[in-house]
Amino acid sequence: MDYFEYKNNELFCEEVNLKEISKNVGTPAYIYSKKTLERHANAYLRSFSSTKGLVCFSVKSLSNLSALNVLKNIGCGFDIVSGGELHRVLKIKADPNKIIFSGVGKSEEEIEYGIRNKILSFNIESGSELLRIEKIASMLKVSASISIRFNPEVDSGGHDYITTGRKGDKFGISSLEEVMQIADYAKRSKHINMVGIACHIGSQILNLESYKAAAKKTVELAERINAIGIELKFLDMGGGLGVPYNGETPPDPSDLVKALESAMSDRKEKIVLEPGRTISANAGVLLTSIEYIKDDFLIVDAAMNDLLRPSLYGAEHDVWNINNAQSANAKNWNIVGPICESSDFIRKNITLSAKESDVLAVKTAGAYGFVMSSNYNSRPRCAEVLVDGDGFKIIKKRESYSDLLNLEEVPND
Ligand SMILES: Cc1ncc(COP(=O)(O)O)c(C=O)c1O
Repeated sequence: MDYFEYKNNELFCEEVNLKEISKNVGTPAYIYSKKTLERHANAYLRSFSSTKGLVCFSVKSLSNLSALNVLKNIGCGFDIVSGGELHRVLKIKADPNKIIFSGVGKSEEEIEYGIRNKILSFNIESGSELLRIEKIASMLKVSASISIRFNPEVDSGGHDYITTGRKGDKFGISSLEEVMQIADYAKRSKHINMVGIACHIGSQILNLESYKAAAKKTVELAERINAIGIELKFLDMGGGLGVPYNGETPPDPSDLVKALESAMSDRKEKIVLEPGRTISANAGVLLTSIEYIKDDFLIVDAAMNDLLRPSLYGAEHDVWNINNAQSANAKNWNIVGPICESSDFIRKNITLSAKESDVLAVKTAGAYGFVMSSNYNSRPRCAEVLVDGDGFKIIKKRESYSDLLNLEEVPND
């Protein structure tokens, strides 16, 4: 459930009329609801029946400092995938003991940054990565904590681009023999401390069966690892639970937590989760104005550089007119942006009433929205706004033309 709703035919975020934000901030702009972020994170945090749970919000889904700060303040840790994301969470003074570093291609610089800041764990994805971490830890004369990300061979459904956890996916380690060899090496290394095992089976998952199957395999693997004398601190089941973009009915986070607690009831390790989309997606909308109407096209001021998901995955976001909940004179439209690519669309085939200069809200855009935005076509990135009750703040300014050129230099002829 989110806090975007019509009141007298006008769309509000919490207590703020979105018309007011569009007038003051302009469009396109991402608008996030603080209450919704908190509500969704609490749906995980409060579902653990003991202190055995750790929720590490997946920073890649929404990485604005203010949003991260909201989540830190209610107890979330963070799942990061780059030095830049580590820099962000350190900036908001996140507890290093709640930071997990995922990703297949960590650079030496990123590893050193993580080790120096004593993060909870590097989720490693190959033997070569382990050797690299060991080398850097040894140079720093410390021991680095790692967990091994394995592929439980569970097909979670969903778009091929966001399915992971299967043999042949680039993520994780598929051979359990290889996992055991790495664990054995880690055990003998002076500079490595193996603290967990991890998996992440995909994204936009709409059933709990895949998680239950993955949990069973995780427990079996944990037993094998214990048998060679390694005590683990946590079992990390990744993120991936789906959200209702367009009528889907995903399980509730509390049901996921219950299912995992039950599958792991004999285990003493913490259960770690890395949810992204379920916390951030419905906490954000993208506001965009209709510039022109041509045939059945609504040509808006947001484009694929602002919201890439429709072009990248064929993702379908619901779109609402902020001034009109009714669809009495509604028509079928294709909503497209100004970018010179045929794949530049926000939503195809949607019924709504609209006229030029109306403002639309593209729903469920809080996750993998702004974070994937770019300057393609030399378009300045849009603003981000956080609503809190009856007030709102710009939490990232709209870029200017001079921002676009900031880092460029023209060599002397
Ligand atoms: C390792 C890992 N953890 C967590 C997530 C977050 O997934 P979601 O936003 O679907 O919950 C991802 C997303 O790709 C991921 O790769």
